[in-house]
Amino acid sequence: MFEASKRLQKLPAYLFAEMDRKKKRLISEGMDIIDFGIGDPDLPTPANVIEAMKKGIENPIFHKYPLGKGTYAFRKAIADYYRQHNDVELNMDEEIVVLIGSKEGIAHLPWALLNAGDVSLVPEPGYPVYHIGTILAEGMPFFLPLKKENQFLPDFGEIPDDILSKTKILYLNYPNNPTSAFADKDFLIDTIDFCKKRNILLAYDAAYSEIYFGEKPVSFLSLPGAKDIGIEFHSLSKTYNMTGWRVGWACGNKDIIAALAKIKENIDSGTFEAIQFAGIEALTGKQDNISELREIYRRRMGILVDSLKEAGFDVAMPEGTFYCWVKIQGGSIETAGHLLEKIGIVATPGVGFGPSGEGYLRFSVTVPEEKIKEGVRRIKEWLKK
Ligand SMILES: Cc1ncc(COP(=O)(O)O)c(C=O)c1O
Repeated sequence: MFEASKRLQKLPAYLFAEMDRKKKRLISEGMDIIDFGIGDPDLPTPANVIEAMKKGIENPIFHKYPLGKGTYAFRKAIADYYRQHNDVELNMDEEIVVLIGSKEGIAHLPWALLNAGDVSLVPEPGYPVYHIGTILAEGMPFFLPLKKENQFLPDFGEIPDDILSKTKILYLNYPNNPTSAFADKDFLIDTIDFCKKRNILLAYDAAYSEIYFGEKPVSFLSLPGAKDIGIEFHSLSKTYNMTGWRVGWACGNKDIIAALAKIKENIDSGTFEAIQFAGIEALTGKQDNISELREIYRRRMGILVDSLKEAGFDVAMPEGTFYCWVKIQGGSIETAGHLLEKIGIVATPGVGFGPSGEGYLRFSVTVPEEKIKEGVRRIKEWLKK
């Protein structure tokens, strides 16, 4: 028998394993499950991107090991996209690295920047890869609670000095998974100032930046001084329904990009170039899928939020993302377990995203409207009993 490394043993247990098992059992018993748990779009990748992929895959040039930081053409498409959509100038040779999904870069970043014992500031509830990547690189995560009374923004004033003196990385993610909170410009300007003063690298996760219902979220990289201290992680996954394709990028500060690229050069050999070719079509081809997608999520979210409010839940219409962060009375694991067992509804227990997520459930509107209506009908009936 081989024992997993100490590093691996330090990773937290997968909190949702028991729920996954239950879900599979109930499905095998014939229960009609409505799954609000999955943060994975149910809509298809746009047809023009699929057509480009078909062409790309037939081109033998793309069958070789991918080039260093990504193909010239894809990096140019990314730079053009940032100029057009975010008013940000990127040097495509030094300030962009293509990733195998943004998760890959988020997980590898601590390998490039942390020494053993260095600290990453990790918002919680949050996407688990920030602290998992830190632990795997033998760094120390320090958790920053995101509380409703602070609009789910971290309070840097709560960080002890001895932690700050060891801090190298701050992770932020807005629009946020799981709370769906947005960060305003003033907060981001203050954050850049905070990072500059303490020489902290800001790793800004913008995976949901295009999923908004009203005003476009502030682009962190467009703010003065952002590139001095930070990079942004971005992805085609949520904007173009391409989660399975595994393609994203990091862009911003050239030293951080160079360090991340060096890690990648030594571990993977980049993103399949046919996928990068299709990625160019995603970024430069017709963009009507995005407005349609926003409208679909907005409608679905409206139905969910209105019905949950009617049922007595304390919930507000989010400004974006496809997540609804719902305050509940009981424990989140217990409540999610009841919803699943009794009425076949999967919702993600908030505590799975960190201790401050306790008392919440995350509902993802990656299910069709009819199913949302049926799901909420079941919840309302169950509450009456
Ligand atoms: C906040 C956040 N960041 C990053 C990712 C990773 O996205 P990808 O690796 O598909 O680009 C996800 C995926 O769910 C996410 O929720």
